[in-house]
Amino acid sequence: MEIVHTIADLKARIAAFKKEKKTIGLVPTMGALHRGHASLVIRSVSENDVTVVSVFVNPTQFNDKNDLANYPRTLDADCKLLESLNATVVFAPAAEEIYPEPDTRSFSYPPTDTVMEGAFRPGHFNGVCQIVSKLFMFTEPDRAYLGEKDFQQIAVIKAMVKDQGFPLQIVPCPIVREEDGLALSSRNTLLTAEERQIAPAIFKALSESVDYSKTHTVEETKTMVTNQINGVEGLEVQYYEIVNAETLASVSQWTEAEHIQGCITVFCGHTPIRLIDNIKYK
Ligand code: PAJ
Repeated sequence: MEIVHTIADLKARIAAFKKEKKTIGLVPTMGALHRGHASLVIRSVSENDVTVVSVFVNPTQFNDKNDLANYPRTLDADCKLLESLNATVVFAPAAEEIYPEPDTRSFSYPPTDTVMEGAFRPGHFNGVCQIVSKLFMFTEPDRAYLGEKDFQQIAVIKAMVKDQGFPLQIVPCPIVREEDGLALSSRNTLLTAEERQIAPAIFKALSESVDYSKTHTVEETKTMVTNQINGVEGLEVQYYEIVNAETLASVSQWTEAEHIQGCITVFCGHTPIRLIDNIKYK
């Protein structure tokens, strides 16, 4: 496994792979890797000749300076894990390498990037599109692996791929969870022991709501999830939306779309830590 820090070094490796007609899988990450990230790398390694993993805490997608400052950074441990998973190249650039000048490009794919996280984190998805489009240009992957943990991010990136005409396939990968149901997240390491104990109530409510939804309306299901989570001291729902899984537009009837997903953001504890999760209804 090679670790490269510059765009020039990355491009030189990519050119050599392309010459040998090797297929390339890209796994974009911000590091602090866990089993969720590992599942994407394992999938990419199994489906491509080479796997490039980017590890870059992208400043342009953080709308909160504290969140950026507190984001965990564990490059040495990340590289050890990636080596054990047979990744081919790790791309770990400095911020100045990616943004020598401020990135003034703006991307807009409503409603995918205006609802939910788009509404509560202004500029977030623009920053995601800035970095992911650069990674696609530098790496020229055949496939890019993205986790359904960030359900909305997949819809936004799919829209960008279509708009910009990137010749690649987006491969969505299922959420990896702890045994108690909590979705793995780099931010989970920031939870206190007490917060970590209450956080699984999020997935508990989401999964119980699937059965509940069979005999209740969309509105009733939203209320049930929100009330159940808000009933736990230390948890506060920021939003719970039940949406068309492709467009991310809200639905008011279960029959309104072929695929329907529930997407939630919850504040946990005093800091607070913002946790996201989602569940498939159909
Ligand atoms: P990051 O939060 O590091 O996540 C990198 C990838 O891992 C994303 O596709 C995310 O959905 C996936 N992932 C995270 N937790 C997961 C879990 N529990 N199960 C399955 N997949 C999981 O998402 C980003 O970074 C950034 O926005 C990025 C796309 C790298 C652009 O900066």
